[in-house]
Amino acid sequence: MTRTVRRTAWLLALLPMVAAAGGTARSELNEVLRAKADANHGAQLFAQCAACHGADGNGETRGSAPRIAGQHYRVLAKQIVDFRHGKRWDFRMEGMADQHHLAGAQDIADVAVYVAGLTRPGKRGIGSGEFAEEGRRIYAAGCESCHGREAEGDPVRGVPRLAGQHYSYLVRQMYDAVDGRRPALPRLHSQRITPLDFQQVRAVADYLARIGWQPNEPGE
Ligand code: HEC
Ligand code: HEC
Repeated sequence: MTRTVRRTAWLLALLPMVAAAGGTARSELNEVLRAKADANHGAQLFAQCAACHGADGNGETRGSAPRIAGQHYRVLAKQIVDFRHGKRWDFRMEGMADQHHLAGAQDIADVAVYVAGLTRPGKRGIGSGEFAEEGRRIYAAGCESCHGREAEGDPVRGVPRLAGQHYSYLVRQMYDAVDGRRPALPRLHSQRITPLDFQQVRAVADYLARIGWQPNEPGE
């Protein structure tokens, strides 16, 4: 029963996203998802990404470039397609996701499968720790139903893994959601973030960044 209700809620949450997606973005994503991805070719293409995301895909601890290593394939593919079709805005990534760097759906599939297979042990940016416990409560109440108990995301539905993402990047994405700078986000996601104040946004981001963090692990 609860399961069905939850699933229905999900479908409803996805409707605006589907409606907003232009034909070309959606058809290119479908093409990527149908492709037979080649990780070896993806490794070659990834050389273009390393300057910002790091040779290991673990991003930059201050959060200017996110950790993409080990993110779900579907999430990576969708984000690249969204940057390419003007559905997510960042001048650095829009430049990189164009056809000059990734010729078509096959290239997107190849680089995404390579990145999804990378491990995530790199240093991570974290917050002060002061509000992490408050962040855990906010996450459990408002975010866990979609992003998963351990913030592991959902590879089938294409919900991003958030655990271990850099703190400052997470903070920025939450403000981007509230300010309407990521139009492809599900409405419910933005509705859950909008009521949070500055401290609560930092609290959730710190909680998420610290998942799986060991005290002897270098963090910033
Ligand atoms: C010039 C720097 C730069 C290069 C090169 C670059 N990126 Fe990015 N990438 C970024 C930045 C900055 C963001 C975050 C944008 C934002 O804040 O919304 C990003 C975001 C992403 C995201 C979204 C991650 C998420 O969690 O939503 C993916 C996927 C991605 N990049 C893949 C790639 C791939 C694949 C390549 C190589 C083809 C690449 N990037 C090359 C700077 C770069
Ligand atoms: C209705 C399900 C749903 C709920 C509830 C939800 N999210 Fe999301 N969230 C998503 C989806 C789906 C995406 C990716 C959307 C896209 O760009 O394709 C996302 C993206 C994100 C991102 C960006 C990740 C990245 O790598 O760029 C962050 C951060 C995030 N969510 C945090 C939260 C937090 C914090 C909450 C609770 C306050 C929350 N979400 C509630 C579904 C949800």
